[in-house]
Amino acid sequence: EKGGYDHFMIKEIFEQPRSIADSMRGRLIASEGHLQLGGLENYMNKLAQADRIVIVACGTSWHAGLVAEYLFEELARINVEVEYASEFRYRNPVIGENDVVIAISQSGETADTLAAIELAKSKGATIFGVCNVVGSSIARATHAGAYTHAGPEIGVASTKAFTAQVTVLTQMAIAVARRKGALTEDTYRQLLIELETIPTKVQQVFEYADKIKEIAFIFTYARNFIYLGRGLNFPVALEGALKLKEISYIHAEGYPAAEMKHGPIALIDEDMPVVFLATKDGSYDKIVSNIQEVKARKGRVIAIITQGDTRIPGMVDFVIEVPQVHELLTPLVSVIPLQLLSYYIAVMRGRNVDQPRNLAKSVTVE
Ligand code: M6R
Repeated sequence: EKGGYDHFMIKEIFEQPRSIADSMRGRLIASEGHLQLGGLENYMNKLAQADRIVIVACGTSWHAGLVAEYLFEELARINVEVEYASEFRYRNPVIGENDVVIAISQSGETADTLAAIELAKSKGATIFGVCNVVGSSIARATHAGAYTHAGPEIGVASTKAFTAQVTVLTQMAIAVARRKGALTEDTYRQLLIELETIPTKVQQVFEYADKIKEIAFIFTYARNFIYLGRGLNFPVALEGALKLKEISYIHAEGYPAAEMKHGPIALIDEDMPVVFLATKDGSYDKIVSNIQEVKARKGRVIAIITQGDTRIPGMVDFVIEVPQVHELLTPLVSVIPLQLLSYYIAVMRGRNVDQPRNLAKSVTVE
């Protein structure tokens, strides 16, 4: 059932071109300018009129929420707050009938996320679910929602569920922005076209799998890792660090790159691997300066860059290229090399990749 792969995790990583396409199937047809999320249709006005969206989730799903925050704010100009479900539920949060909550959960069974939904519901908020497991508790507890359709995810480390969540949330943000009249026809059409090409672009990242394996070999016994990114790549940095921690048991931290000089830079020396998300986007020049700051302190830099970048390769120890995509869709490609890097390191360390110690696939107790 692993389809010839050694682990479910690597099978699921390689499935992403298809799972991402599945999360758009029947919803998005770029050539026709068509984008419709069936389950949300009756609530589109509610979403478009929302003053605020509160996203609740845990773990990797919370990272998908951080990506969505950026997209909803940028495209639809709606204020978004992303909350750890466990913190939200115990905080007596300010929430009411005018609020829209989006709960994100692969399993649909996460206890804290479910409790956060029940709390928000009791205060009159409208709740949407973005779940992978059809008919799950969270899917049933919400007023409406959109399934991610990534297919069963067996590996404890979430991979294809994350990219499917981001794809669904991106479609939601575009659809809501369009309903609000916040997008020009051109921008709208362009985004649909670009989103439709993502499965092909993800496929192209796999061409670097052997190179990523070589990098994994070099850093197999590193004791720490830092992941840095800005903007949409900041949640990707968090996600890269979480993947590495979970399955290789290497201590890793993700930070917004600019936060580095407020503390973590003290950790940098010739033994510290630093993974930079340095794709060509609005924060490219800023990231380049952050790379220089790390190199000046002899950190060992692995940079995820956009294909064709000629500036960063001369500055760093290793580069992994990803294809150029629309800036707002960057996380869907930049997260892929980080999934592979953590996978190969964990395998080289002999870890139980699919079932890491102390972890369960769904966390049904708080
Ligand atoms: O099923 P959920 O998406 O609600 O699960 C949330 C987290 O428990 C989950 O993402 C966890 O962090 C994963 N093991 C990450 O790989």
